[in-house]
Amino acid sequence: MRSSKQFEELRELSSEIQYYNAILSLLHWDQETHMPPGAIASRSHQIAQLSAMIHEKKSGSKFKAALEKLISLSTGQPKAKGLSLTERASLREWRKEYIRATKLPVSFVKTFSQVTSEATQIWATAKKQNNFKLFAPFLEKIVELSREKAKILGFEDHPYDALLEGYEPCMTTHKVSVIFKGLQKELTRLLQKIKAKKQVEDGFLHEKVGDKTQMEIGHDFLAKLPIDMAYTRLDLSAHPFSIAMHPQDSRITTRIIPHSFISNIFSVLHEAGHAMYEMGLPVETWGTPLSEAISLSIHESQSRWWETLIGRSLPFWKSRYPALQKMLPALKKVPLERFHRAINKVSPSLIRVEADEVTYCLHVIVRFEIEQALISGSLQVNDLPAAWNAKMKEYLGVVPPTDTEGVLQDVHWSLGDFGYFPTYALGNLFAAQFFTAFAKKYTDWEQRVAAGDFLFIREWLREKIHRCGRMYNAEELVKKVTGKHLNERAYCSYLKKKYAKIYNF
Ligand code: CO
Repeated sequence: MRSSKQFEELRELSSEIQYYNAILSLLHWDQETHMPPGAIASRSHQIAQLSAMIHEKKSGSKFKAALEKLISLSTGQPKAKGLSLTERASLREWRKEYIRATKLPVSFVKTFSQVTSEATQIWATAKKQNNFKLFAPFLEKIVELSREKAKILGFEDHPYDALLEGYEPCMTTHKVSVIFKGLQKELTRLLQKIKAKKQVEDGFLHEKVGDKTQMEIGHDFLAKLPIDMAYTRLDLSAHPFSIAMHPQDSRITTRIIPHSFISNIFSVLHEAGHAMYEMGLPVETWGTPLSEAISLSIHESQSRWWETLIGRSLPFWKSRYPALQKMLPALKKVPLERFHRAINKVSPSLIRVEADEVTYCLHVIVRFEIEQALISGSLQVNDLPAAWNAKMKEYLGVVPPTDTEGVLQDVHWSLGDFGYFPTYALGNLFAAQFFTAFAKKYTDWEQRVAAGDFLFIREWLREKIHRCGRMYNAEELVKKVTGKHLNERAYCSYLKKKYAKIYNF
């Protein structure tokens, strides 16, 4: 049999899995947007059934046999002759995924999902009641399971490496630590400078705006982006998210906070950035890793690109502010420059998801250091609230008065997602680094954006990032696009330049 025929067989099996994954995503989307609340029990069963079926297909003998015809599972050497570069890349990624999917015994996966599903519910109650003690025994169990998981998956240096790899394949604890050290130093220095300056006034961003107007604003901002409305839609949910079934079906949600209309706009821009990435993946290789996103950090680089580098820039608002003033007439007395300063106000706060560009990564660094300590065993769950508060004081200069606003704020640990947090910060670094290459090519980007032209930006992202799928890993991609390895410098110099103007120093 010729290798192309064998490759097609494998691709068909993989496509089948992708279709089931897409259906699973659709169930999740429906659950968060339109599902009647009483349907939750039956929905959980549907999701559990489908997830088990997908896992079986991914780790089953049929897939293994098809994969082994083309690549050696033990060495990673391609077996077939005449494979193209892209086929080789697909095989490399399929093999990696297969090995990771089959390392964890089914009994372990089951226990992990049972414990975390119960823990998520307990966490929600504990957060509501400000009762860390209620959550602690569950978290202890999850930490223990996560350490076991790291052991099963294997690592060379730090057990945290094995967990991080699940979200960011080319990263290690050591690499992230080095980057975060430099980042933390620079951010702290910048924050001190800003704190010494007069705070910007942003009261007009907190006038009440009703649901209907906010949704109209959300739809208007989405429609002005270079996004194909035939392949996307915007809905409401408790927490904003994006989810893609296919490059031609990539959906987003937002949430409405009555006294913060700007939060809705930034959610839309953020999630649209995620959606545009998924829509830019090549349709023709669908079913293979070449039409999948590289990693969480690269995904987050795309959302932060539109939300911050573009969406919080003055040129963007030169083009969009008049329309917003029309929808919110109270803003007519607020000049553009004042509005732009207000949406970029820097102020250390307790909650990560509400943090500004300067302090955001510090929140992530707090979590990264705590996660490592929990996984290595140098920090016990009972000492966690105290450790959290101490780090918040050290890095951000604020101490949460309650655990609800502190250690209990994020859902991730209850889901067993250790290793996820660093990708939020890394996404910002990737985005800033990509942006330097973009700005070098388009020296007139500010004029074009001010004139309402956004399409050339998407085209650049599509060509340089989206269309690659998983051809390269994140490190290779950033090297290819910018000529440099991932580092914190581009992000720091972007922030320094921008905030020196906003805060006059
Ligand atoms: Co995101």
